[in-house]
Parts: sequence; structure tokens; C-alpha cells
Amino acid sequence: MNIAIGCDHAGYFAKETLKEYLQSKGYSVTDMGCFSEESVHYPVYGKAVAMAVSQGKADKGILICGTGIGMSIVANKIPGIRAALCHDTFTAKASREHNDANILVMGARVLNPEQMKLIVEVWLDSTFAGGRHSQRLEMIRELDENRR
Ligand code: RB5
Repeated sequence: MNIAIGCDHAGYFAKETLKEYLQSKGYSVTDMGCFSEESVHYPVYGKAVAMAVSQGKADKGILICGTGIGMSIVANKIPGIRAALCHDTFTAKASREHNDANILVMGARVLNPEQMKLIVEVWLDSTFAGGRHSQRLEMIRELDENRR
């Protein structure tokens, strides 16, 4: 599985930690920046990761900013993206099982890297439950198609 990962300056340290963690677990990771703690604009990196997932260049994405809010707003503007802002393992699991989230977003000013590792692990190990949730995803897909 190829995972595209991105962050802004607030998420840089966490992104580096998670990248190493994921690689140690055998995942292929595409680092889409940023590459230091120098102040940057999160929409640049949120868009890059979301486009990679939307275009099938990555299987899943992980985005980190200070709160996770900016990155969520950006990623969810890209067609086909279901980005979930998760601050715990319960919502991470549900975002895969119920929403088939293809991008996990976290806030580096909310969680520490150890908490993030747990959330990432649960998120990657959880699968879409289908059933009644499929119909809801189809409704989201229609919204995507009809938006201007
Ligand atoms: C950067 O200061 C901060 O605004 C950003 O990391 C993020 O929290 C935005 O939603």
C-alpha cells in the first residue's frame, strides 16, 4: 500500500515521526512536504496529498496541521476525497468502517506523535463495512458529481 503524507509547519515533526513509523511497518510512503518547520500554507500540501489519492497515485493519505481543521477543509474540496479528522481511535475506526475515509487528518497541536501512531495503526487496519453504508457513500458521490 502506498500512503501519501503531507503537513504544514505545525505538523512537520509529527509527519517525520509517522513517516518513519510507517516505513518501519513496511508501507511505501510518498512524502509530499512540507520539509521543515518554516511557516508554510497548509492548502498547498493538503491539495497535493488529496490530488494524489483522488488520481489513484496513492492508496490512502495522511495529513497533519495544527488542528487538522484546515487540512480537512482543503482535502474535502477535491473530488472523490473523504477526509476524516480524527482525534482518537474510535473515530479513526468508524471513519474507515462507516465512511470509507481515504484520508486521515490529525492535529499536531491536539495529539502527540505516540497518540497519532495508535490512531494511524487502527485506521489502516480497519476496513469499510459496506452494507447500509454503501448507499450513503453513493449519495456523497452524487454530491461530488453535482457540485459546481
Ligand atoms: C498554522 O498556524 C495553523 O493555522 C494550521 O496548522 C492549522 O491548524 C489550520 O487549520
